[in-house]
Amino acid sequence: MEAKIILLPGDGIGPEVVGEARKVLTAVAHRHNHTFHFTEKMMGGCAIDAVGDPLPEETLGACLESDAVLLGAVGGPKWSDPTAKVRPEQGLLKLRKSLGVFANIRPVKVFPALANASPLRPERVQAVDIVFVRELTGGIYFGQPQGRETVAEGRSGHDTMRYNEEEIRRVLQIGVELARGRRGKVTSVDKANVLASSRVWREVAHEVAAENPDVEFEDVLVDAMAMYLVNRPGDFDVVVTGNMFGDILSDEASMISGSLGMLPSAALGAGGPGLYEPIHGSAPDIAGQGIANPLATILSAAMLLRSSLGLEVEARVVETAVSRILAAGHRTADLARSDERSIGTQAMGDLVVAVLG
Ligand code: IPM
Ligand code: MG
Repeated sequence: MEAKIILLPGDGIGPEVVGEARKVLTAVAHRHNHTFHFTEKMMGGCAIDAVGDPLPEETLGACLESDAVLLGAVGGPKWSDPTAKVRPEQGLLKLRKSLGVFANIRPVKVFPALANASPLRPERVQAVDIVFVRELTGGIYFGQPQGRETVAEGRSGHDTMRYNEEEIRRVLQIGVELARGRRGKVTSVDKANVLASSRVWREVAHEVAAENPDVEFEDVLVDAMAMYLVNRPGDFDVVVTGNMFGDILSDEASMISGSLGMLPSAALGAGGPGLYEPIHGSAPDIAGQGIANPLATILSAAMLLRSSLGLEVEARVVETAVSRILAAGHRTADLARSDERSIGTQAMGDLVVAVLG
């Protein structure tokens, strides 16, 4: 097949990890007779520096016309002044919104070889296989009004958390469909004991549950969920939640897998190009050193092959390669215990390419 893939390396370690994922995709294309046309575009802090806009029109246009978009990371201390007018993250939010990718799929799985890298006890993490479905284009990230003002008491800021039933229903529906192909259980996470938007969320969730009686359903409050992810993470199958809760819980859950550097994500919507990104950020503290873990981005590329290009076999080939490399004991610095040797970003990418079936 032929596919147009836009690469958005972004900031910090973004270019390093996207470079390795590109290598892997190129090798897959070569071995399986596909033609992937890669185009790199600017986005994030680097785009602010170059043209004053974190998501230049040209970048957005190219993404809208592509089959899939692979993003590294955006942001860093250089652009994080709280009073700055433009921020790299605005570009990412605008891109998600413009692509209409309302469902962010974040699988959390423990590679057997990494059970020891988890801060949780190995027997607790072995059974973990969770898919988070994070609502991505609504909630407090996008609610209006939002802003800051000076009031009698001094500086003040406000955000709005708003969800309408259509936004809630469609993301829960995705969770239900995913659960059907897995262990058949959906956990909906909200804060319905305090927030009005969560009470609407819960009402709609119960309607969706009633319409899909073949799927087991439960609600959990977000604070309790934070606890359960640590003391009984093996009990969850598909977890559906709003934008901010999903952001926070998925970082927490990534620790179960041993490192934030392992978790991929896919943002999907109503059939347009999907957006694939590792869930880790730009890690400015290690950028440019060649030590970042490229596996989350490589696994995101596998999700791209599967969900945007329909290449299930090729996706599995990449995932199996990652598993084998880890089983053989290779570790980037984030995964290595103090007594283990670690390898760099490029060496890890080369190893994955070398064992592709
Ligand atoms: C993520 C990130 C982003 C988010 C930031 C960079 C805007 O934390 O994808 O989880 O909050 O969505
Ligand atoms: Mg996050």
